[in-house]
Amino acid sequence: MKAYRASLLRFDAAGQAEFDADGGLLVGPGPQGTQRVLDVGPWSRVAPACEAPGVVFEDLRGQLIAPGFVDMHIHYPQTDVIGAPAAGLLPWLEHYTFPHESRFADPTYASSVAEFFLDELQRNGVTTALTFATSHPASANALFAAAQARGLRLITGKVLQDRHSPDGVRDQTEQSLIDTEALIRRWHGVDRLGYAITPRFAPTSSQAQLQGAGELAARYPDVWVQSHVAENHDEVRWVAELFPQARSYLDVYRSVGLLRARAVYAHCIHLDADDRALMRDTGAAAAVSPTSNLFLGSGFFDYAAADAAGMAYGLASDVGGGMSFSPFHTMRAAYVVGREGQTKLGLSLSPSHLWWQHTAGAAQAMGLGGVVGNLQPGCEADFVLLNPKATPLLARKTAQAESLDELLFALIVLGDDRVVARTHIAGVQP
Ligand code: GUN
Ligand code: ZN
Repeated sequence: MKAYRASLLRFDAAGQAEFDADGGLLVGPGPQGTQRVLDVGPWSRVAPACEAPGVVFEDLRGQLIAPGFVDMHIHYPQTDVIGAPAAGLLPWLEHYTFPHESRFADPTYASSVAEFFLDELQRNGVTTALTFATSHPASANALFAAAQARGLRLITGKVLQDRHSPDGVRDQTEQSLIDTEALIRRWHGVDRLGYAITPRFAPTSSQAQLQGAGELAARYPDVWVQSHVAENHDEVRWVAELFPQARSYLDVYRSVGLLRARAVYAHCIHLDADDRALMRDTGAAAAVSPTSNLFLGSGFFDYAAADAAGMAYGLASDVGGGMSFSPFHTMRAAYVVGREGQTKLGLSLSPSHLWWQHTAGAAQAMGLGGVVGNLQPGCEADFVLLNPKATPLLARKTAQAESLDELLFALIVLGDDRVVARTHIAGVQP
């Protein structure tokens, strides 16, 4: 067992922050051998357990232990696509993203990017990601193998895209579904890995491929589903042309059984009230990707409408449409986007609510509540050690913080990978 004394952040079941300025965390083996949180709380209460004989103890006072960040939507093969300028989503896909993704047919190339990608997640304090691979099964195999070797809880899947896609990334309807099922059987539930059925977005899948994906989603209910929806006006218009019978873009996914718990849809910007109610009623969740939406000029996620509808959501980087791997950058952009809609209501997103969206809230939206993204007893011991003095300005600013919100806000506005002193995966510091 291992124990740590530091400031400690976690969240209660209602999503409210719990904070001990002087706290203790005790970590040890749980079910399936995974390291879990055994106890957590004020140092005065947990000190006897943390200082018991046989416990390896570390005094980290002056630093903050917080749940590892959960990134609800990212593309590992787009690690090198960050910062590619384009007029908007569709030209960006055509000119940069599809040509680059064609390289992932090569397993050696895919493995080398997978290792770099996981290093980058770790450096930024992200301990769980729901990530796209490419349409090549080799790309999913490469990332699963790399994540397994590191003991990560990670979810990915081979992209399904059998039309409106160039040679090199376009797959074949029947074979794509056979490959998807084989990958589910090989990887889903192995160690901490999970599979996500991954139709890229409605325009690049035939009706037959979408239907096949929906049938797999019904046959494997604890497998994830991930896709994109309602990101960009040109994309929404295109979907209306391609699927004239659908009430809306989101309705295309409903009609084939791809809206359910553990289904995560990136963006969800141009939805209407019926769509939001459908998200809520089916248990599907939105992956809010503000740095991507700002970079590609896609629009602003409507937090007020999402809250009014009661739909689930959490934060995501959406690299490489997104501008950064850093959860601090994503939370900061979410704050700016949240102000857009909420100032008219006299509200803005609180720092602890932003943090929750990238940890416990994201995990809950994905069906991993109580497993990752939090540090309550029983949670898997994925956590970060944050240095509030990582830069001169942060040191100055955090020293003046008089409340938890002031401390978290200073980190959100001024923080980046320099704040992340360590990332522990299942209790282990890699
Ligand atoms: N829609 C379909 N594919 C993509 C992608 O790779 N990135 C983003 N941001 N949107 C998409
Ligand atoms: Zn995306």
